[in-house]
Amino acid sequence: MTVDVRAVTESEFPDWQRALRTGFLRPPVVTDEEVADRLPHVDLARTLGAFDGDRLVATFRSFRQEVSTVGGGSLTADAITQVTVSPTHRRRGLLSRMMTADLAAAKERGDAIATLIAAEYPIYGRYGFGPASWCSEWSVDVRRTGLDPRRSGRPEDGGRIDLTDADEIRKIGPGTHGRLAGVRAGVTHRSPRDWDNGTGRSVQSDPWREPYYAVYRSESGEVEGFVAYTADDKWDDAKQPMNTATVRDLVAVTPAAERALWHYLCSVDWISTVRSGYRAPDDTLPLLLPDPRAAKLLTYADMLWVRVLDVVRVLEGRTYPVTDGLVLDLRDGDGFAGGRYRLDASPAGASCARTGESADLALDIAELGVLAFGDESAVRLARLGRVEELTAGAAARADLLFRTPLRPFSPDIF
Ligand SMILES: CC(C)(COP(=O)(O)OP(=O)(O)OC[C@H]1O[C@@H](n2cnc3c(N)ncnc32)[C@H](O)[C@@H]1OP(=O)(O)O)[C@@H](O)C(=O)NCCC(=O)NCCS
Repeated sequence: MTVDVRAVTESEFPDWQRALRTGFLRPPVVTDEEVADRLPHVDLARTLGAFDGDRLVATFRSFRQEVSTVGGGSLTADAITQVTVSPTHRRRGLLSRMMTADLAAAKERGDAIATLIAAEYPIYGRYGFGPASWCSEWSVDVRRTGLDPRRSGRPEDGGRIDLTDADEIRKIGPGTHGRLAGVRAGVTHRSPRDWDNGTGRSVQSDPWREPYYAVYRSESGEVEGFVAYTADDKWDDAKQPMNTATVRDLVAVTPAAERALWHYLCSVDWISTVRSGYRAPDDTLPLLLPDPRAAKLLTYADMLWVRVLDVVRVLEGRTYPVTDGLVLDLRDGDGFAGGRYRLDASPAGASCARTGESADLALDIAELGVLAFGDESAVRLARLGRVEELTAGAAARADLLFRTPLRPFSPDIF
């Protein structure tokens, strides 16, 4: 029997949820309450399933997302999520069929890029996605930081830290998080639903642990950051506290907020370890401790994957620090965005159009997503054979155009 790939109907949505949970190795039971809570927030036309007879064997969903670009602009993305194929139906091309259908619809709609967070690195490169941002995670040995515990909760810069609750975070969070887009590229916007999910207000399928919340205000009283963290309850045999504070969410839009919030977390009595959660790959965390060796790098891995669908909008939708022009020959096996494009860029703006001129660089579309968000070096990609330099020195010129002082970062898994 052939397997049919199509959008699911409302009555099929509970089954779709069950298949999703099975694919992600979560308990497969889905309550009516969970279904009723989730259904209003999904676009069923963009919620795909694969049906083997009447059995739902694969899930795939996409939604509209705004992603910050270099310079603080934004691009509309086709955000892909909840991708699973049942263990009985893997490696028969079902993901490829769902992906092809979704990307074609995104291209048709005019989305500039598609985005996703990959469960495993090797899955999505074949569809033109490249890792555009990376993340780090740190474990801080609080007693080795060299921080003065007497300053706990009292930033040196005249700002203040206040404990607060989920209600206040839902009020101040969106505005503060919105400012992150002006700080780094790659930040994906959070919807009201994301704030409900992140603060325990939606129906949770996994046990919910209420975090502690702390807000940083500058001397003038402006909110510049906040943190949500949980703590465990561990004491060793000598009655020493051995508790770990785990950061669930830390949003800081100024260096002062970043410093004050990390110092706060590293000075809470009974906390011996702080786990940072996913941070930017160039987070200031280790260096803002008097002894940076107190912070151990736990994770360094890919975060946001980007698939360029509209080359012109992607290259015109960011800023450039220098004036230069490059012709890029882009290979796209799926036919969405390949061809030769000329980019003329300067700090005053950029224009990009198809051209018949000879190319300076040749690359796959996956590498363009990586370069456009400013993280990766074209010189490094050329050394890896992933960018071909057709004009001597073109990769180094591309680096001067594309790379950014702060690396892109996408704090959210969606
Ligand atoms: C990842 C997953 C969705 C792939 O689905 P699938 O239907 O088996 O994928 P396809 O058959 O369409 O695979 C297409 C190609 O990708 C490759 N591929 C698929 N999953 C892969 C993986 N996890 N690692 C490496 N390669 C993979 C296949 O081998 C195939 O390559 P080929 O064309 O050269 O033979 C499925 O294995 C799954 O549900 N895994 C568990 C949940 C998960 O990780 N979901 C992704 C969340 S981001």
